[in-house]
Amino acid sequence: MATTLTSTDSSFRSWLTSVGPEINAALAGAVAENSLPSAPKRLREAMAHALLSGGKRIRPALSLLAAEACGSDRARAMPGAVACEMIHAYSLVHDDLPCMDDDTLRRGKPTTHVTFGEATAVLAGDALQTLAFEILAQQSSAALAVEQIQLLTAASGASGMVGGQQMDMDGEGQQLSLEAILQMHAGKTGALLGTSILLGVASAGADLTPWRSYAASIGRLFQISDDVLDATRSTAELGKTAGKDLAADKSTVVGALGLDGARALMAEEVQNALNAVAKMNPVQHHAELADLPVFLGTRHA
Ligand code: IPE
Ligand code: IPE
Ligand code: MG
Ligand code: MG
Ligand code: MG
Repeated sequence: MATTLTSTDSSFRSWLTSVGPEINAALAGAVAENSLPSAPKRLREAMAHALLSGGKRIRPALSLLAAEACGSDRARAMPGAVACEMIHAYSLVHDDLPCMDDDTLRRGKPTTHVTFGEATAVLAGDALQTLAFEILAQQSSAALAVEQIQLLTAASGASGMVGGQQMDMDGEGQQLSLEAILQMHAGKTGALLGTSILLGVASAGADLTPWRSYAASIGRLFQISDDVLDATRSTAELGKTAGKDLAADKSTVVGALGLDGARALMAEEVQNALNAVAKMNPVQHHAELADLPVFLGTRHA
């Protein structure tokens, strides 16, 4: 399998296109029947629905990009890439449940609980989470496994994604301060997004320190743009119900600052990420890393 850059230009979009098939194949393999021979069929199908029914694959693509930027290869980075996409997929299944955001559409398809029922959806999320850590633990380098498990547990748990989701639910029906909203963003989305980059750096055995500011900035930028997209794009464009944040009275940056203010904050964050990338010294892929903030600041879905 090719391990070198095959994109035709140096945009982040081309990078996504070029690594997408490899990522999708690895994800499909991880939930295939022969990988989970003892799992109940219905549970495995729900896991596959959650993991394989579309999605931009930004997190695993970032893991592979960061790994190659640090001089490593895709094969070594793939377990981390797959694991963080599994945590993301599980977080979406639970986020869409009636007791949380109560969404029926995800990636242009019925949500997992609509297709399989709530109980199976909860369990599919649980099982995707466990499988993510099993995949990291099975790596031949125990030191890499432990480092990546520490990174991913910190990003996913009470002080990361799950904690941010709690703040999001508690923030419904009240207008949180901008500071509180940004703290919630950093937890529910930023932690996992940023960690997808750090998992790739770790797979290369490189120092995480020069990457931390860029990773945090990309994580913040991602959820600011998600809030803006929810308020400005159509359901058809997003593949998920548009206007949901306003309808559910969520605390968002658009609610706190208005659309123009949210866009200004997004532009500031694009600049922060560009400043961070200017201080990094990747061995390759500098152009894609520098294009990523622009891509996120101008995306339509
Ligand atoms: C949506 O993430 C959920 C958030 C954290 C905002 P993505 O926009 O990456 O969703 P997919 O994976 O492409 O469907
Ligand atoms: C979701 O935030 C964050 C996680 C799933 C952890 P949102 O609730 O804003 O995501 P969407 O808009 O439903 O994709
Ligand atoms: Mg939510
Ligand atoms: Mg939601
Ligand atoms: Mg949203």
